[in-house]
Amino acid sequence: MKKIAKFFEVLGLENIRGKYILEKLKKEVQNKLQEKERLLEELKKECLNCKKCELHKTRNNVVFGEGDINTPLMFVGEAPGEQEDLEGRPFVGRAGKLLTTILNQFGIDRNKIYIANVLKCRPPNNRDPKPEEIKACFPYLKKQIEIIKPKVILCLGAFAARTILNLPEKTPISKIRGKEFFSEEFKAYVIPTYHPAFLLRQKRGQEAFREDLKKALKLAGMI
Ligand code: URA
Ligand code: SF4
Repeated sequence: MKKIAKFFEVLGLENIRGKYILEKLKKEVQNKLQEKERLLEELKKECLNCKKCELHKTRNNVVFGEGDINTPLMFVGEAPGEQEDLEGRPFVGRAGKLLTTILNQFGIDRNKIYIANVLKCRPPNNRDPKPEEIKACFPYLKKQIEIIKPKVILCLGAFAARTILNLPEKTPISKIRGKEFFSEEFKAYVIPTYHPAFLLRQKRGQEAFREDLKKALKLAGMI
């Protein structure tokens, strides 16, 4: 055996099998990433043309979601607001800026996370989502989660938490925030927390929000 190893070493081929296996693994990982990208792009295209509920009539832009598609952590909000509807991007208004700032305080850039909403189109005057709108739109979010496969989902607000965890319609966020759930459906930990728009009105909630975010970041292995 030693003689054979020596022979290959002389030829400069001592690790040829190791290199071959490494290359093969790299290719496999690359293919998986490309497949994820392709599936998400396909879903996005479908979503941008969606007319499955009445919100398509009043929207300026569909807000599909954005961020790192290989992240272990996903944020799920409620629905686009005014600024999001204008830009076609999630959490870019006042609430979004607060979210980004708090995230930065943990040393995390928002592009390291994937951010999406339950509804992809803005409800007029930011009214609450209707059950039939959630029913029509949730399949998009479901597929996003299934493609991205995050380890942890942080639900921003009651609507996101109730939808992801399939909880009764009136479940108050104060009862479930900060708790660690495990979703068998998505094979991910789910942590509900306050919506950043609520934090703008209720500064007292910020401490709890920080705790919940820290829990999610730790569970995802990001801090
Ligand atoms: N509120 C949300 O729930 N989502 C956004 O994208 C912006 C504000
Ligand atoms: Fe389609 Fe969802 Fe927009 Fe309704 S909110 S039109 S279901 S993308």
